[in-house]
Amino acid sequence: MHHSTALPISISAVTKAYGAVHALKGVSLDIQAGEFMTLLGPSGSGKTTLLMAIAGFTRPDSGSIRFGDQEAILSPPHKRGVGMVFQNYALFPHMNVARNVAYPLKLRKVAKAEVDAMVAEALETVQLAGYGDRAISQLSGGQKQRVALARAIVFKPRILLMDEPLSALDKKLREHMQIELRHLHEKLGMTTVYVTHDQREALTMADRIAVINHGSLQQVDTPRKIYESPANRFVADFIGESSILPVVRDGNTIRFDGNALKTVTAPPDGPLALMIRPERLAFVTDASRDEVNTFAGNVLELVYQGDSALCYIELSNGTTVALRANTHAGGPLDSIVEGASVTLGLHVADTVLIPAGRDA
Ligand SMILES: Nc1ncnc2c1ncn2[C@@H]1O[C@H](COP(=O)(O)OP(=O)(O)OP(=O)(O)O)[C@@H](O)[C@H]1O
Ligand SMILES: [Mg+2]
Repeated sequence: MHHSTALPISISAVTKAYGAVHALKGVSLDIQAGEFMTLLGPSGSGKTTLLMAIAGFTRPDSGSIRFGDQEAILSPPHKRGVGMVFQNYALFPHMNVARNVAYPLKLRKVAKAEVDAMVAEALETVQLAGYGDRAISQLSGGQKQRVALARAIVFKPRILLMDEPLSALDKKLREHMQIELRHLHEKLGMTTVYVTHDQREALTMADRIAVINHGSLQQVDTPRKIYESPANRFVADFIGESSILPVVRDGNTIRFDGNALKTVTAPPDGPLALMIRPERLAFVTDASRDEVNTFAGNVLELVYQGDSALCYIELSNGTTVALRANTHAGGPLDSIVEGASVTLGLHVADTVLIPAGRDA
């Protein structure tokens, strides 16, 4: 399938209220041409509202949405050149697969002779060649999802919007489709905005992730930056597992339980907290290495999870921290038991200080 030129999207100070509910509180976001941007946030955070505003199904109260150098905010959905996969597919149950996929072409008054070829091409792209005559009710969840996708891409949109397209699928199929969608994006090259509330899905698929909470963007960054340098406590909590511990600023020194913490970057201004990812923490025997911060504690609980084990350790100041341990033979689980006194090591590069505030 050949692709038309991708377009950048520039969202500026967009607001939307439903009565007293402020669904979007001044969202600004620049998405590059051909970029795969994931919009990640909890239920009710405003993801669908923002996607519907980009597609043209929702009119913002204020702000601007530009595709390239063109203001889109006043143009109707079918004039925006945007393909959309809705939360829950929204297929027409009384039409067969081919007629569902052909629908956007009819809306755009494409000639019949062309329609058949374009539908066949779209179905082939999503690996449903030959399924045109099937009724929607005769499809599995994953096949319905692919029909919705074929309908979104059949007219070769310059922008593709997807709202939690995989949420109805089981874990195996979802993970398979994540990779398939990523490959499809690489092949077609469309600017893509992908909504999910699943943090692992966002980390897997996105070029950049925009984290949203209560209608406000919290951070826009690469998956690695979002995971390793969260902008605030909300982002640190929402993406991945973390222990967030209190620290005290003492001039230029940051102290945890009285001890100076070694870090590689200067901490942000204002009240701080220490964020520890469980897999970055390790049991150590030698507590004197320069490149690690060490903590003494007691093992409270061990939770065996097959590929790894989660260990909860109470530190000397009474706070609890989680450590993810390897389960391989000869690893820490051979010697660590509940109640043991242990020393934990955290590499200075993994010692991340974040603003203590909950939200942006
Ligand atoms: N048509 C509407 N009328 C009134 N309130 C609405 C309407 N649509 C959305 N809202 C409210 O706006 C807020 C944002 O909703 P939105 O659907 O954008 O959330 P979401 O992030 O997509 O959530 P989910 O993950 O559950 O799909 C919510 O508080 C929701 O109840
Ligand atoms: Mg939604």
